[in-house]
Amino acid sequence: MDGNGRWAKKRALPRAVGHQRGVEAVRRLVRALEPMGLECLTLYAFSSENWKRPDEEVDDLMNLMRKFIKSDLPEFVEKGVKLKIIGDWQSLAPDIVAMLEDALAQTANGRQTLAVALNYGGQHEIARAAAKAASKGDVTIETITAELDTADLPPLDLLIRTSGEVRLSNFLLWQAAYAEMLFVDTLWPDFEPAHLEQALDDFARRERRYGGR
Ligand code: IPE
Ligand code: MG
Repeated sequence: MDGNGRWAKKRALPRAVGHQRGVEAVRRLVRALEPMGLECLTLYAFSSENWKRPDEEVDDLMNLMRKFIKSDLPEFVEKGVKLKIIGDWQSLAPDIVAMLEDALAQTANGRQTLAVALNYGGQHEIARAAAKAASKGDVTIETITAELDTADLPPLDLLIRTSGEVRLSNFLLWQAAYAEMLFVDTLWPDFEPAHLEQALDDFARRERRYGGR
């Protein structure tokens, strides 16, 4: 979900406003999950490298998360959205961990998954999964995959990066092995359900060969 800062800068607004508008883009997409029939949408909300940002911005992002869970959890429950968190979220602030645990419990029976990557880094996830597989004495692609945070999610089909950047930035590295990728110039706060529908149309036209021919 990249481009909040540039969205704000273009309008001479504080970065925090860009992040707020970014949350609104998330809300619009969550509301569109059901009509679009998506099984799972994973959002890269906070990377393990985002701690390098100024304290004030990290605080803004954490406070936005608190606010969003509080305001939107009832709607998640009502709409049958199942929350899933990937990344090292247990080491976030204790009040956020408690809120997330409550949100996970309340949405456990949801039908469509909204996975949120929090304090997430793909390399770290792979290292953790490989170490777990090794501790069980069996290191294979399958056993590592089974220890990833995403083990209970469907395979990654389409990865979209917004804001014109063309890199993965440590997101779902293992899972992206055969994912289709789409890089769009749209800044995240401008990302609408229609952009996602367009992306799905694009995805539907791709021919996936998984190394075959
Ligand atoms: C992404 O927007 C938001 C998070 C990292 C949570 P940025 O803050 O990276 O926006 P740009 O890249 O400065 O435009
Ligand atoms: Mg950025």
